Amino acid sequence: MNKIAIAIDGPAGAGKSTIAKEIANINNLLYIDTGAMYRAATLKLLNSNISFDDKEKIEKILKNTKIEFSNGNIILDDINVNEEIREPRINESVSKVAAMPFIREILVSLQRGIAKDNNVIMDGRDIGTRVLPDAKYKFFLTASIEERAERRYKELIEKGYQCSYEETVDEIAHRDKLDSERTVDPLRKAEDAIIIDTTGKSINEVIDIILNIIRN
Ligand code: DC
Repeated sequence: MNKIAIAIDGPAGAGKSTIAKEIANINNLLYIDTGAMYRAATLKLLNSNISFDDKEKIEKILKNTKIEFSNGNIILDDINVNEEIREPRINESVSKVAAMPFIREILVSLQRGIAKDNNVIMDGRDIGTRVLPDAKYKFFLTASIEERAERRYKELIEKGYQCSYEETVDEIAHRDKLDSERTVDPLRKAEDAIIIDTTGKSINEVIDIILNIIRN
C-alpha cells in the first residue's frame, strides 16, 4: 500500500516544525524535521574544523557520518544533538552548507528512504518540490518577517542566548535570501501546494486549517 506523505515547506520561523509535530501526533505519522538533518551536517563540519570551501574533505567527512532520527530526536554519529543544532553558530552557517549540491543529494536520498517505509509528515524547504513531489498533501507556510523573527527571538531568549530582536530579523532575512536564491532546490512553493499565512494566527488555528483540508 502507498505510504501517506504530507509535505510542509516554508521559510524559517513560519511555524512549520511545531505544527508538523502536532499533526504527526494527531494522525499517527512519523515527523521528519529535514532542517535538523542539514543542521546536524553543519555541526559535524564545524566540529571537524575544515574550510567550507574544501569540497573533497567535506564529501569524505559526510560519507562517514551517520544522521538518523530516533523517537523524534536527531542523532549524529550515535549522539543526540537536539540542543546543539539549535545554537546560533549553526544558524549562521547552515544555509551555506544546505546550498552544497552533494550534501543535498545525500540528505534528499535519506529523506526519500524514510518516506518509502513510513507514513510521514516532513518539513523543510524543498519537500513538495524535490524530496516528495508526489506527496498527497502539500502546504507552504509563511508569515511576516517581523512575526517570524519575534518567534525565533523568544525561543533564543528562553534558551538563555544573548541576542537582540534586530539581530534576529537580520539573521532570518539573510537565511531567507540564501535559501531562496541558491541554485539547487531553492525555497519555493510547489505549484500544487496550499499557502497558509500564519501571521496573527495561533498554532491551533493553523493546525485546524490543515486538519480540515486533510480530512476533507
Ligand atoms: O528549518 P530550519 O531553520 O531548521 O532549517 C535549517 C536550514 O536548512 C535552513 O536555512 C535551510 C536548510 N534547509 C534546506 O535547505 N532544505 C530543507 N529541506 C530543510 C532545511
